[in-house]
Amino acid sequence: MKTKIWAHRGASAYAPENSLQAFQMAIDMKADGIELDIYETSDGKLVIHHDNDIKRMTGGVEAKIRETDFKTLRSYNFNGSWGDQFGKVQIPEFKEVLDLFQGTDMKINVELKEGSIAYLQAISQAVQAFQMEEQIIYSSFDHLKLHHMRKINPNCEIAALYAFNMMYPWAYGRMMNLTALHPAYSMIYKMRDELGIDYVKEAHTHGLQVNPWTANKEGIIRYLAEIGVDHIITDYPDVALRIANEVAEKQNI
Ligand code: G3P
Ligand code: CA
Repeated sequence: MKTKIWAHRGASAYAPENSLQAFQMAIDMKADGIELDIYETSDGKLVIHHDNDIKRMTGGVEAKIRETDFKTLRSYNFNGSWGDQFGKVQIPEFKEVLDLFQGTDMKINVELKEGSIAYLQAISQAVQAFQMEEQIIYSSFDHLKLHHMRKINPNCEIAALYAFNMMYPWAYGRMMNLTALHPAYSMIYKMRDELGIDYVKEAHTHGLQVNPWTANKEGIIRYLAEIGVDHIITDYPDVALRIANEVAEKQNI
């Protein structure tokens, strides 16, 4: 199967990360999907943002998302280091993103961050309201959250994020009933080069996808496509799509 490409925080090399503009660019570039990070505001709205505070993207505003209400968050400009070229960049609501992708065949990789069971329930309900369950895969570094999400919605897709040298992740993945392994990409080549283990083959044998992150260098993207990972998570979806096409053509797949 040809490797598919997911735009990390949208096409974040070309527009402010986790913005509607970055997500629209991923659509325009014909990415196969996107990745985003999700938080809940103090008044219970689901918003898309990477950090638990807004300092980095608002030019220094000191506020934690979970302690701030939606209206206040919307008053800030989340343009990061992009200056005025995108106008005022608003923090998106999750439902705006669902609305944008509804009717497309793109996957939405929702990275679960800090929050209670109610936060997970609210996310699941929003997806349900848009009838987009099949378009969503939940990922998290907090694997307990994935476990809870599966309890809330037994049919949902879940993926474990990790950035350490986990041995036999396919065994863990099977025990957790994961859909996919989401390793930092270096885990894959270390295991292949140091131990001679075919990471992708092992995972596929156990019914697991391999979707590494965040591959931005052309050589790494090519390597991952050549060994047959399922999806590459990247800030440069246009570059990765070109490389994935070249590799598929070469391998005749
Ligand atoms: O999905 C992979 C990646 O998003 C995890 O790291 O810090 O970019 O959220 P981070
Ligand atoms: Ca993320």
